Amino acid sequence: MRTEQPKMIKLTEYRLPDYLIDETHLTFELHENYALVHARLLMQRNPGLDETLPPLILDGQQLELVDVALDGRHLTAVEYQLSDSHLQVQPTHSSFEFTSTVRIEPQNNTALEGLYKSSGMFCTQCEAEGFRKITYYLDRPDVMSRFTTTIHAEKQRYPVLLSNGNPIAEGEGENGRHWMTWQDPFKKPAYLFAVVAGDLLRVDDSFITMSGREVALRIFVEPENIDKCQHAMDSLKNAMRWDEEVYGREYDLDIFMIVAVNDFNMGAMENKGLNIFNSSCVLAKAETATDAAHQRVEAVVAHEYFHNWSGNRVTCRDWFQLSLKEGFTVFRDSEFSADMNSRVVTRIEGVAYLRTHQFAEDAGPMAHPVRPEQYMEISNFYTLTIYEKGAEVVRMLHTLLGAETFRKGSDLYFERHDGQAVTCDDFIAAMESVSGMDLTQFKRWYSQAGTPQLSVSDSYDAATQTYQLHVKQSCPDTPEQRNKQPFVIPLSMALLNQQGESLPLQLHGESAAVLGERVLAVTEAEQSFSFIKVPEKPLPSLLRGFSAPVQLDYAYSRDDLLFLLQHDTDGFNRWEAGQQLALQVIEEVVGQLYETDEPMLDTRLVEVFSALLAQEDLDPAMLAEFIALPSTGYIIEQYEQADPLAIHQAREYVSNQLAFALKEPMLARYQALRKVSLQTPYVAQASDFARRRLQNMLLAYLMRTEDLEILDACVDQFGVADNMTERLAALACLVNSPFTDEAEHALASFAERFEDDPLVMDQWFSVQAAAALPDGLERVEHLLKHPAFSIKNPNKVRAVVGAFTQNTPNFHAIDGSGYAFLADKVIKLDALNPQMAARMLSPLTRWQRFDLHQQEMMQSQLQRVRGSGDLSADLFEVLEKSLAV
Ligand code: TRP
Ligand code: ZN
Repeated sequence: MRTEQPKMIKLTEYRLPDYLIDETHLTFELHENYALVHARLLMQRNPGLDETLPPLILDGQQLELVDVALDGRHLTAVEYQLSDSHLQVQPTHSSFEFTSTVRIEPQNNTALEGLYKSSGMFCTQCEAEGFRKITYYLDRPDVMSRFTTTIHAEKQRYPVLLSNGNPIAEGEGENGRHWMTWQDPFKKPAYLFAVVAGDLLRVDDSFITMSGREVALRIFVEPENIDKCQHAMDSLKNAMRWDEEVYGREYDLDIFMIVAVNDFNMGAMENKGLNIFNSSCVLAKAETATDAAHQRVEAVVAHEYFHNWSGNRVTCRDWFQLSLKEGFTVFRDSEFSADMNSRVVTRIEGVAYLRTHQFAEDAGPMAHPVRPEQYMEISNFYTLTIYEKGAEVVRMLHTLLGAETFRKGSDLYFERHDGQAVTCDDFIAAMESVSGMDLTQFKRWYSQAGTPQLSVSDSYDAATQTYQLHVKQSCPDTPEQRNKQPFVIPLSMALLNQQGESLPLQLHGESAAVLGERVLAVTEAEQSFSFIKVPEKPLPSLLRGFSAPVQLDYAYSRDDLLFLLQHDTDGFNRWEAGQQLALQVIEEVVGQLYETDEPMLDTRLVEVFSALLAQEDLDPAMLAEFIALPSTGYIIEQYEQADPLAIHQAREYVSNQLAFALKEPMLARYQALRKVSLQTPYVAQASDFARRRLQNMLLAYLMRTEDLEILDACVDQFGVADNMTERLAALACLVNSPFTDEAEHALASFAERFEDDPLVMDQWFSVQAAAALPDGLERVEHLLKHPAFSIKNPNKVRAVVGAFTQNTPNFHAIDGSGYAFLADKVIKLDALNPQMAARMLSPLTRWQRFDLHQQEMMQSQLQRVRGSGDLSADLFEVLEKSLAV
C-alpha cells in the first residue's frame, strides 16, 4: 500500500493494451483466514498491433503468488519477474493460456477495495483498480473479457454465493463446503467484476421488459433488514421502465441482483448484473429512514441500474474518460428523479448541491477538468467535478440539441459503441452526427477546469424599443491552467414586463418573435444580443433552470429580486431570486456584526416571507424551498476570503429574526401540517415529502423562539411520529436548542430504541456531531468512544467526522482545535482506508477560501499530516496539491 513516490499517469501517454483476454476463468476458495484465487486467462496478442511478442506485464498488488503457468507449464522463479505492483512473464505464442494462483487475506482488508469482509460476508469492490488486489490481471477498462466464476465456501456460514451473470452449476464439497459457478455472457472490464458470499435473505420480484422478457429481480440483505427492501425494489422497477421509455434501453440479462453491505467507501457499484450497495443506499422504511434517505435510495438504485448501458455495455477506454459514464449517468438519474418527484424542486436541490460543493472544488487546489489530463491516484478523481459538473455538461448538450435530437444522439452512441471501451470524444461525435452541429468549441467544457463567470448588463432604448443584453464570460485560472478560451454557454432567458408577463423575444435580424423563453448561445468572450420591438423596459430573467454551470453576475436590486421571487414564470429562478435576496441581507448583517450586536435586518425579507406564508395556493414544496436560507457553505463560497464564524453568526441572526417576526403565521401553518401528518399514513411520494419538509422547516424556525408551547409540540412530534423524517427533525431541533434536559432525554430514548440499527445510529451520531453549540469538539470526542462507533466503517466516519466538518462554529473554532481534530482522524484513517482518508481531508484543502488566521491554522494541519509518516498515494496526492499553491 505504501508507495515510493507515486507517479503521474498522463492521458497523452495512453497506449493500446499489448494483450487481450478473451476469457477469464476464476475460482475462489474462501476461508476464514485466507482465500485462494485461481485464474485461467485465455489471452492473445492484441491483433491491432504488430506481431512481435512483448513481455506480458500484469497488474497485481498485495498478492502472494503461489503458482504461475503459461500454456500449462509451471514457471520457475527465473521465468517471471515480480514487483510490488506487477508480474511479468514472456509469452512465446500469439495466443496462450496464462494461469495463476494467489493467496490473499480478505479478513484483513480494511481499505475496502478488492475482496474484503463486511459484517461476516465476503464482497468485492473493484472500481477503479481493485481487481489487481484479487488476482494478476490486465486491470484496465479497455481490456474486456468473458468471465466464468466459481466460488467455494463453507455452506453454513455462506449459503449464498453470487457473481456476475447467470448461475450455471452448483454442488456440494467436502467438510461442509459448497460451490457455485456463474457465467456472464457479456464482455466486461475487470472493474465490473463482483463476488459475494454470505448468509443473506432476499426479496424477489420480476420485471417484464419492453420486448416481453421476464427478468428476475433480487435484493439480498442481512436477515434483520428484510423488511427494508420494498422501496429499493419499487425504485428499481421504475428505473427499468423509465430507461425503456426515455432512452429506449432494455435490460439484457435474465437476472438483476442488488446486495446491501454495511462497509462501503461510496454509495454503490454497478457490477454487471450484481450491483453492490452501501446499505444506506438500499435500505429504507418509514420508521427508520428519512424522506431524504428514501429519495437517495431511489436515485442511487436508478443510477447504478442506468450504468448497465451508460458504463457497462458502453464503457470507458481509460480512467481519464470517467465522466463519460459518470456525468452521463448522473444526468440520467437526476432526470429520472425529476420525473418521479417534483421537477423544479429536484433541480433546485441539485443546483444548490453543485454550487456549494462542486464550485468549491473547482475553485480550490484539487480543481481539474471534467476530463482530467493527469492523476496519481484515480480514486481521488471520483469527484463532484466528474460526476456533477459532468452531468451539467451533458445537460447543456441536451439543452442545445433539444430532447429529440439528444435522444437520437444517445441511440447512435449506444449503437455505434455497444461492447466497446470509448472516450468522451466518441460521445460528442455521436451528438455531432445527429445534430449536424460542430461541437469543437463546446468540448472546452471537458478540457478546461474552473467555474466560468458570466457577467451580464443591459440597456433599453425607449425611442427605438430596443433592448440590449451585454454578456461577458471569463474563467479563473486553476492550478494547471491559465488563460482559458471562451466556452459555449447556453443562456436560457426571458424578459418580464411590469406585470411579470414574458415578452416576445425577437433578436435583431430575425423575422419573427419567440414566445416565452429562449436559449441564447454565448460563444464569445464578449457578446451583445439586441432585442427589437420591446415595448417597455423589461426585467431579465437569466440562466433559467440554471442552464449552465456558471457564476451569473447581474446587478439586480433588492426590489428586482423581490419582483422575480413573486412573479418569475420560471420556478427555479423564483427560488434563485429569493436566495440572492437572502444572501444580500445576510452579507449585510455580516458587515454590521463587526460593529454592533444588534444589526438592522432589511425588513423586505421578512415581508416577503410573510407574504409567501400567507399565499394559500403556493405549492408547499416551493414554499419550503423559498424559506430555506442559503446554506453556510454556499455563503462562504461567495467570499474571496470568508470569516466562517461571522457568516454563521449572521445566518443565525437572520434566522432568529425571521422566527420571532413570523412566529404566528409559522405556528398556524406548522400546526395545520402536523395535523395532516398525524392523520396520513407514511407514503414515500413527492407531495408528502413536501409537506413534511415544510412542517419540519417551520418547526426549526419556531424552536428558535424558545417558546415552551413550541417545545411541547416538538417533544410531542419527536415521541409520537411514526416516521423517521418527523422524528429526526424534532430530535435535531431539541439537540440544537437550549433545552438540554429535553435533548438528553430524547437522545437517550432514541438510542435505546434504535441501538441495533446501524443506519439509524448513523443519524443519531450526525445530529449530534453537527450541533452548532459550544463545546462541539468535546461532544464529538465523546461520540467517538461510543460502542456503536467504528473508525473502520465509512458510514460511521462520515456520520461523526464528516458531519463535524459541516459544523461551522466548531470545525472553524478560533483556536484551530477543529482543524487539528480532523488532521488526527485523517492520519489514523490513512493507515486503514486511504480512499476515505483522502476524502475526509478535503475541508482542509479549501484553506484559501478563508481569512488569513484560519488559512494559517489549516495549512499547518495539512503540514502536520504530511509530516506524519508513511502516507498512502491517495493522501499524498491531495496533500501535495493543497500545499503546492
Ligand atoms: N461507479 C460507482 C458509481 O458511481 C462509483 C464507486 C463505487 C467507486 N465504489 C467505488 C469509485 C469505490 C471508487 C471507489 O456508481
Ligand atoms: Zn456511477
